[in-house]
Parts: sequence; structure tokens; C-alpha cells
Amino acid sequence: MKILVTGGSGFIGSNFIHYWLSRHPDDEIINFDKLTYAANPESLKDLESNSHYQFVQGDICDESAVDSVMSSGVELVVHFAAESHVDRSIDDPLLFVKTNVIGTYTLLNSAKKHGNIRFHHISTDEVFGSIDFGSNLQFSEETPYDPSSPYSASKASSDHFVRSFGKTFGLPITITNCSNNYGPYMNPEKMIPRMITNIIDGKKVPVYGKGENFRDWLYVTDHCSAIETVVNKGKIGETYCIGGLKETSTNIDLVKRVLNLMGKDESQIEFVTDRPAHDNYAVSWEKLHNELGWEPQETLDSGLQKMIKWYQENEAWWREAKTEAEAFYQRLAASRQK
Ligand code: NAD
Ligand code: DAU
Repeated sequence: MKILVTGGSGFIGSNFIHYWLSRHPDDEIINFDKLTYAANPESLKDLESNSHYQFVQGDICDESAVDSVMSSGVELVVHFAAESHVDRSIDDPLLFVKTNVIGTYTLLNSAKKHGNIRFHHISTDEVFGSIDFGSNLQFSEETPYDPSSPYSASKASSDHFVRSFGKTFGLPITITNCSNNYGPYMNPEKMIPRMITNIIDGKKVPVYGKGENFRDWLYVTDHCSAIETVVNKGKIGETYCIGGLKETSTNIDLVKRVLNLMGKDESQIEFVTDRPAHDNYAVSWEKLHNELGWEPQETLDSGLQKMIKWYQENEAWWREAKTEAEAFYQRLAASRQK
């Protein structure tokens, strides 16, 4: 099978390409990626000599570039490419509309033109909004959309376009809405790698607000196996939610776990100004488990241990991105003070 992976040089996409080719070595993957700040070509360097892997630099908003790859015999699209960072969407919302909405539309239209190619869309639990503090609610496929940030609004819009192409044009689509991923090849702008790399550098760990917000952490390889399950066994037209844990973790609990695993104490925590419209997430993955038999393999501690070890051993991979990430946070803090 020939697969078009968009955004394959980012965090989850690069993990997915490694995962897929290790399990389906006879398949071919084209990685179509613009190489924004979030990409790191080093993540896929080991595949450069693999004849089943091809990299094409391009923008998913560019119709002719998209048509050109789509017409090369692609049988499945796995669409990761997006602007993915909530804090950046507060800084520059229009970029999120362009990439996440127009880019997704451009891909859908091209998949339709080239023979209704199977299209799997990677989305987020953030489209469902926020869970109240103290509530036991979990997002599920039935939860109404209620996005809070420009990022989640753009992803919600892209989900609607994907479904509309299924209903209106018969495009064979599936969607997965997953919770927060963590693992290797994750840009140090995001919370867990920011925390690990700060600790390695002997710096404090910034925690937004009081650290009470909660997430449902999903180890990236578990996410990849869930996508594989839906691609292979999912029902066309359906959405599947993917979560990682049986219970959520507050940010402060997460920070304490990481500090403990890295042999540091809580004096390294620094509480900083909260993010506007700061959500909470928890996801029920009952449908994916009951209908398709998927379940996550990692616990939060086992996943964190693997991830910490990877960052300790791969400073060359993250050092430059870390410098850029901290420069971004300085700009963001300065713009919030204006
Ligand atoms: P990422 O930011 O690490 O990577 C995104 C990739 O997309 C980068 O390689 C970037 O260069 C590429 N890209 C961006 N704009 C592009 C464009 N216009 N054309 C082509 N390529 C472009 O993102 P990620 O964390 O790997 O997330 C991947 C997908 O999963 C996204 O759709 C995101 O919304 C979704 N998701 C992520 C998480 C998470 O915890 N990271 C959770 C739920 C859903
Ligand atoms: O839920 C899925 C989403 O998870 C994805 O759709 C997004 O693409 C992905 O980036 C992630 O969004 P979050 O906003 O949850 O991730 P982030 O790593 O930015 O923040 C995680 C939590 O940690 C959040 O509650 C904010 C908090 N935080 C973040 C940073 C960067 C801090 O307390 N301090 C920080 O320095």
C-alpha cells in the first residue's frame, strides 16, 4: 500500500512513520511536510536510505503540490499536518485557519479528485471544549463540539469538513480525536519536553496558574497503534476517541512525577501566569476498545521513564529547538504585558 502522511516530520507523524514501516515494511510512505518550526528532519534521518520512504517538502494549502503527490498512486492519506500549539494560536490565530482549515480542505478536495482516496484525519480532544473541575465527565464520540482556543476551533472546523466530504462526496473517511500525546521527538515548546529539558539544564519548571488543570496523557506509540487499528479495522465514516489513561493527571501531579523520576525536588517548580481559556481534558476510549479491541500499553510512569531517558540521550536532537522555544515564550510573555 502507498500511504501519504502529511506532517510526518513533526512529533506524532515521525513516530507514526517509524511505527508503520517497522510493522509494514512492504508499504511505501510519502511524507509531505512544509518543515515549519515544529518539524525536525533529524527525526527521520535513519530512513533516508529506505527505498520505501520518500520525503516531499510542500504546503498542504498548495493545491498543485498536493495534487502532484496525491496522483502518484496514493491509496491512503493519514493527515497529521497542522499548526498544533495552543499558545501559538493565541499569538497568531490566522495561521491556524490557513493550515488547519484550508490545508485540510485542499487535501480532501485532492483525495476526492483522485478517485476518492481513503482519508484518515488526526484530530484532538480539544474540539470538545473543557471539563469542569470536580466533574467525572469524559469526552466521547457523542460529546458536542465546544472549542475554546483558535487552535481547537480550527481543528473542529477541519473535522466538520472531513465529515462533510464523507457525507456529500462519499469520500471514505475516518477521524480520531485523541488526548495529549507524549514521547520522543516532541518539540520542547510543549509542556512535558519543556519540563524535562529545563530540568536537564538546571532551570525551573514553569507551571501555568496553580497547576490544577488536568490532562489524559497518551504515549505516542499507543497513539500510533490506535491509528493503525482504525485504519485497518475502523468503520468508514466513523469517529473514534483515543485516550491514554484510566484516570487523568493534574499538571502539578505530572510535574512532581517528572521531578521525582529525574531525582529533583519541588523547589524547581515556578508558578507563572495562567493561559487564557485554559481547558481540562479526559477522554473515554470505550468505543475503540469495545468495537476494535484497542487498548494502551503504557502507564504514565512507564511512558515518562522512556521519554526522560530519550531526552537525556538525545540532546543534539532538541538543543536548537529548545533555544527557539524559549525565545517564543519570551516573546509571548512580552506581548501579554502590553
Ligand atoms: P507538530 O506541531 O509536532 O507537527 C506538525 C507537522 O506539520 C510539522 O512537521 C510541520 O512542519 C507540519 N506542517 C505544519 N503546517 C504545514 C503545512 N501547511 N503543510 C505541510 N506541513 C505542515 O504536531 P503534532 O503534535 O505531531 O500533531 C500532529 C497532529 O495531531 C495535529 O493534527 C494535531 O492537531 C494532532 N494532535 C496532537 C496532539 C498532541 O498532543 N501533540 C494531540 C491531539 C491531536
Ligand atoms: O489535548 C490534545 C492537545 O494536547 C493537542 O491537540 C495539542 O496539539 C497539544 O499541543 C496538546 O495541547 P495542550 O495545550 O494540552 O499542551 P501543552 O503542552 O501546551 O500544555 C499541557 C498543559 O501544561 C496545559 O495544561 C498547559 C500547561 N503548561 C504548558 C506549558 C508549555 C504549563 O503549565 N507550563 C508550560 O510551560
